[in-house]
Amino acid sequence: MSEKPHALSTDPYKGVRDFYPEDMYVLSYIIETMREATERFGYLEYGASLLEPAELYEAKTGDEIVNQEMYTLTDQGERRIALRPEMTPTLARLVAKRRLELGFPIRLFSIPNVFRYERPQRGRLREHWQLNADIFGVESIEAEYDVIALAAHIMHSFGASDADFRIHVSDRGVTQALYDHLNLSEETRIAVGRIIDRKAKIDAATFHSQLTEALSDEAAVETVCSVVEAEAVEALPQEIRDTDAAHRLDALLETLKRRGIANVVPDLSIVRGFDYYTGPVFEVFDTHPDNNRSLFGGGRYDNLLEIFDAEPVPAVGFGMGDVTIRDFLETHNLVPHYTATTDLFLCTIADGSREHAQQLADDLRAQGVNVEVNLADKKVGDQVKLADKHAIPFVICIGEREMETHEYTLKALASGSERVVTADAIADALYEMWQSDPLDYTP
Ligand code: HAM
Repeated sequence: MSEKPHALSTDPYKGVRDFYPEDMYVLSYIIETMREATERFGYLEYGASLLEPAELYEAKTGDEIVNQEMYTLTDQGERRIALRPEMTPTLARLVAKRRLELGFPIRLFSIPNVFRYERPQRGRLREHWQLNADIFGVESIEAEYDVIALAAHIMHSFGASDADFRIHVSDRGVTQALYDHLNLSEETRIAVGRIIDRKAKIDAATFHSQLTEALSDEAAVETVCSVVEAEAVEALPQEIRDTDAAHRLDALLETLKRRGIANVVPDLSIVRGFDYYTGPVFEVFDTHPDNNRSLFGGGRYDNLLEIFDAEPVPAVGFGMGDVTIRDFLETHNLVPHYTATTDLFLCTIADGSREHAQQLADDLRAQGVNVEVNLADKKVGDQVKLADKHAIPFVICIGEREMETHEYTLKALASGSERVVTADAIADALYEMWQSDPLDYTP
């Protein structure tokens, strides 16, 4: 007797998501909002494959991602391939390849899916979509201003107010000045950087004791604490305040505030875990106590093109993920209500009404209305229920009377309001009813 085959699981692979229409609606909303806001700032869209040679990330992406989080495989030709864990090295590759033709400055964006082998948890999955917005070819902090203004504009486009999020700005140069001031070895710099990076996730006593272990010098620990806790550039120790990097940070903060981006604060505990950042870095935080975490971030990376042996091109940009944005939208009650992309469902009641409905559907589709015709052998009440279950906002039932008179009752399912219209008035009536009676479907 043959054994019953082992039934496959219907669950997706750990840490990745399936998107049923209601989920796809939210993902599409997030992606479209990001796209529209980014194009408004003059960014041009690019794309690339999710497969890249693994070595693309080994030079500068950073230890943790490369050694612990990267999906790597060997293809049939013995080449080591990675599923992209981030987009920045790909973008640097594209820019290096066409350096002479692109024309700088250039603003580029993409919204790819990226993959990291992380422990799945709130805000962290193994696949997410990530807006990457980057400017190439600008050395001054005007690029930082532009990119951070875009970040704030995207948040506003999602319906956030300034009080809902805060932009924390640091500068790698200031951190380097701190390490130089303390005369730290390369090894100690890496260790201290990691501790600072974890600061938000550990308590003050643990932070202090880990620093003491790494530095074995209480005065040095105090200096590090005074820098990472400084609430203004003037609060930094004199030797650090006098560096070019500190002046740059001060000028950036001042420019942002002067031009109306008020919710920005200096925060020298922002390290960002990539080796390629060279100057200002920033991270945007949710201010809501239920979701008090980093939403997204970025910074300046002026030397990444050197991995292709290309002349450097200054660059500034950020990555904004869909998972943390969705958490933000949920926390602040900003997720839009779901309605189907189908506008109208045509119920069929009488003999011959399906043919009539198909003809009417074709006419309406030609006018830009998204129409579904009933194909099920169900009672009219059940057809309407199905349309409602699928969150289709409008129905028309086609029976003998409609086939004779060519007049139809257009019904909005959420409110129950109705209008009797001729075929050529359906599209306009739909639009007007939609405007006057915003629909509220919660799946
Ligand atoms: P990142 O901080 O690693 O930076 O990622 C950017 C954003 O992507 C994060 O702040 C978060 O919103 C989202 N994200 C990252 N990892 C995950 C994950 N496992 N699950 C869910 N969301 C995640 C970068 O990747 C840089 N390449 C960004 C950049 C662009 N810098 C300059 N240009």
